Amino acid sequence: MKVVTTIKEMQEEIALQKKCGQTVGYVPTMGYLHEGHLTLLKQAGKENDLVVLSIFVNPIQFGPEEDLASYPRDFERDRALAESEHVDYIFYPSVDEMYPNKLTVRAIVQERTEVLCGKLRPGHFDGVATVITKLFNIVMPTRAYFGRKDAQQAAVIEGLIADFNFPITLVVVDTVRETDGLARSSRNVNLLPEERRQAPALYKSLKAAKSLIEQGEKNPPRIVEEVTRIIQTETSGKIDYVEVYSYPELKPLNFLAGRIIIALAVKFTHARLIDNLMIEID
Ligand code: PAJ
Repeated sequence: MKVVTTIKEMQEEIALQKKCGQTVGYVPTMGYLHEGHLTLLKQAGKENDLVVLSIFVNPIQFGPEEDLASYPRDFERDRALAESEHVDYIFYPSVDEMYPNKLTVRAIVQERTEVLCGKLRPGHFDGVATVITKLFNIVMPTRAYFGRKDAQQAAVIEGLIADFNFPITLVVVDTVRETDGLARSSRNVNLLPEERRQAPALYKSLKAAKSLIEQGEKNPPRIVEEVTRIIQTETSGKIDYVEVYSYPELKPLNFLAGRIIIALAVKFTHARLIDNLMIEID
């Protein structure tokens, strides 16, 4: 495994590997790896000759009030985990390497961002789309792996790949959870002990909504009401949103049909958690 810190070296290594016919599976992350990231790396390893992991806490996707400074980091631990997952390259650039000057051009996401996290985090997905455009041009992968946990991000990346004609196959991997149902996240370590005990109620509320739908519920506000009720009674968190949309278009629905997503975000003292469930309704 090689750790690469410069853009030039990364591009040269990949160009060489691709000349030899190697396929490249790429997992972009902000580090502090957990089982969710490792599942993406495992799948990339199964489907490609080479695996590239990037670790970069991207400042331009954080708002001024957000947790850029407290975002957890531990490169040595990440390096050991990556080694055990047979990663071939870790791309680990500095902020100066990625953004040496003020950007002259940046990506603006025009669809799929007016709702959910996009609405509450203005500019967030522009920051994600901009860094992913740069990273795709640096790593030039055959396949890129993203988690379903960040479903809106996956929908935005699907649009970016299609609109900007990246010759890259997007692979979206199911959410990896703790045994009690809490979606794995680097931010879970910032929960207070009592909040950590309450947090599985988020997934519980989504599953309760799913069983209502299976029993024939077609009314989106009823679903929102049930999810909200469970979170409010079982946690001390403050709900940012509970919303139901079509997926991947993220458009509101008058009644539930087709492929839908129920998504939520809840603020705890030092961590904002998101989760979602995708359901196919016939
Ligand atoms: P980060 O939060 O580190 O997540 C990296 C990838 O891991 C994302 O595709 C995310 O959806 C996936 N992931 C996180 N938790 C997961 C879980 N429990 N199960 C499955 N996949 C999970 O998302 C980002 O970084 C950044 O926005 C990035 C895309 C790297 C751009 O800066």
